[in-house]
Amino acid sequence: MALPNKPLGELPAIANPEIVEHKVDVLIVGGGMAACGCAFEIKKWAPADLKIQLVDKASMERSGAVAQGLSAINTYIGDNPIENYVKMVRNDLMGVVREDLIYDLGRHVDESVKLFEEWGLPIWKLDADGNNLDGAAPAPTLREGGKPVRTGKWQIMINGESYKCIVAEAAKTALGTENIMERIFIVKLLLDKNKPNTVAGAVGFSTRENKVHVFTAKAILCVCGGAVNIFRPRSTGEGKGRAWYPVWNAGSTYTMCAQVGATLTMMENRFTPARFKDGYGPVGAWFLLFKAKVQNGLGEFYANSDSVKAELSKFMPYGASAVTPTCLRNHLMLNELKEGRGPIYMATDVALNAFLDDRRAKGMDEKDVKKFWKHLESEAWEDFLDMSVGQAGLWAGMNIEPEKVGSEIMPTEPYMLGSHSGCCGIWTSGPNEDWVPTVNGPRSHQYKWGYNRMTTVDGLFTAGDGVGASGHKFSSGSHAEGRICAKQMVKYCRDNSHTPELGQSAADLAAEIYAPVRRYLEHVGKTTAADVNPNYCKPAGIMMRLMKATDEYGGGVATYYMTSGKLLNICLDLLRMLREDAELMAAGDLHELMRAWENYHRIWCVETHIRHIEFRKESRYPGFYYRSDYPTCDDANWKAFVNSTFDPATKEWKCEKVECINIVETEPWI
Ligand code: ADX
Repeated sequence: MALPNKPLGELPAIANPEIVEHKVDVLIVGGGMAACGCAFEIKKWAPADLKIQLVDKASMERSGAVAQGLSAINTYIGDNPIENYVKMVRNDLMGVVREDLIYDLGRHVDESVKLFEEWGLPIWKLDADGNNLDGAAPAPTLREGGKPVRTGKWQIMINGESYKCIVAEAAKTALGTENIMERIFIVKLLLDKNKPNTVAGAVGFSTRENKVHVFTAKAILCVCGGAVNIFRPRSTGEGKGRAWYPVWNAGSTYTMCAQVGATLTMMENRFTPARFKDGYGPVGAWFLLFKAKVQNGLGEFYANSDSVKAELSKFMPYGASAVTPTCLRNHLMLNELKEGRGPIYMATDVALNAFLDDRRAKGMDEKDVKKFWKHLESEAWEDFLDMSVGQAGLWAGMNIEPEKVGSEIMPTEPYMLGSHSGCCGIWTSGPNEDWVPTVNGPRSHQYKWGYNRMTTVDGLFTAGDGVGASGHKFSSGSHAEGRICAKQMVKYCRDNSHTPELGQSAADLAAEIYAPVRRYLEHVGKTTAADVNPNYCKPAGIMMRLMKATDEYGGGVATYYMTSGKLLNICLDLLRMLREDAELMAAGDLHELMRAWENYHRIWCVETHIRHIEFRKESRYPGFYYRSDYPTCDDANWKAFVNSTFDPATKEWKCEKVECINIVETEPWI
């Protein structure tokens, strides 16, 4: 149920919050695309008496990575063979992916897109003559055979400013608002007292009321997105806080699942997207729809030269492919910058004028060329207005006329995620079908153990950014994966008749969660400024310290993404000390309490990232990160997953190499 907006100012926290206990069968933690997919689907499969609860840290209407809207849906299979989708993802992610998960996603994703359209999302269509109707004129739906405007092989254009509102509305209607709690930040998952390696609940607090919520549940879907603000952002001062991925994604999915023993995979992977400088505006539509090219500071279109082909051949694990993997596109850009040939421009002027010249060459008169230009111009602005309003503001503020000048693009600070062009996340079971490889050994080596998308912990599922080694799902794929989980969690609840039981009392859990508040209240009177106190650290300072450590030693923008075994170990030492000091965080209000717990999640999550990069003795993703001591891709030794598991009983971490099995043919490449 939606809570009213906050009154002016933050809500003070008190030492002894009210404790509320909830007993449910299925708990959905998160409110983004994956959570909405699950919420929409689950009641169709659930018996009437199955109690399902969704808790979102924010408000579902605008929460998650799609909050601000999108101008495209990047995964719509359409007429493409699903095998080719697997090949594309494998190629872009440098060969090390779970093909079973990707294929499975590919066969479900289009249904989500068709549903979005039926719920009211305008999808751009072509008319019978192939003209673009822009989603503005009546056209058959996708289900009726309408032809979407394809920008690339996989992407389609939408009028998507309200994309998340539309998807959330359908989810809320299907699940019932009485089963949805907003503004509840889940701090940790809880294991069962009696059944080993089995999830039994979760605990969190309200960011609007002084209340701690303790949930007991048999099946949990943990879908809280990826991690942002784990590396120092390029934006500084008053612009700080602007990032490409949503700033509220604190790595909670990875941390909470890892802490109860779920195996993680490919946490060394990261995404450092090239974006329009400072505004972080999207580049996909410019590259794909407008066919724009990147140009260096000398005016050279460097991406197609012979020297570039030679450079790429050093890294491509399987030789040439039609589309250069995203990390290697960054690598080329970084080479230009390091050689002093920056800045890098998206040549918007060249691209737009090429369209106009093409129309003129086809005999279009100047009046119609002008009209056509207006159309193009509005498409270009809409791309930003749909999904990155700040970039449109920046262009307006900088007097940018895209037909006259190019705009700078720049690789951003690194993010951790599993749904866009990255693939870190949690090791999950694939579908329980005979084409999925059977591997002996522990679950951390297997590809299937009964319930699709269940983590290595019984009853704990994940989707979207949570599922590792299967990127390029984007918004639609995350929704589809949430739908897959819905059915599987119902099956899990039907198959398992135990009653979950928590090992800790609600009072102990509440004391742990409110410890930063109690520390604050105990010591705040001892100094004149609440932010400066020898007895505690404030969350803002801890976050800056985290970013400094990762940026300088973990391959952030400070070093052009370069790190080494030596630097990584320094980083791990700094993080260890940071974790100790973070135990002394203090929070004076409910917002700050959330910041404190987000910090714990971020520190844990980025520590797994650093550990994995250290373990993998190669540079698998040049352009995303480099190890100076192992500067190239070493397929002979490292075409394998790196999986890691934290043992909640012994508190020990284990990293291991796990076999990567191809299911879809490796030739021909697409
Ligand atoms: S967005 O989410 O911010 O729009 P982005 O702009 O990176 O993402 O890309 C959108 C889609 O276009 C993704 O499917 C991405 O893989 C693809 N894409 C972006 N740039 C290129 C490029 N230069 N070549 C091929 N595909 C690209």
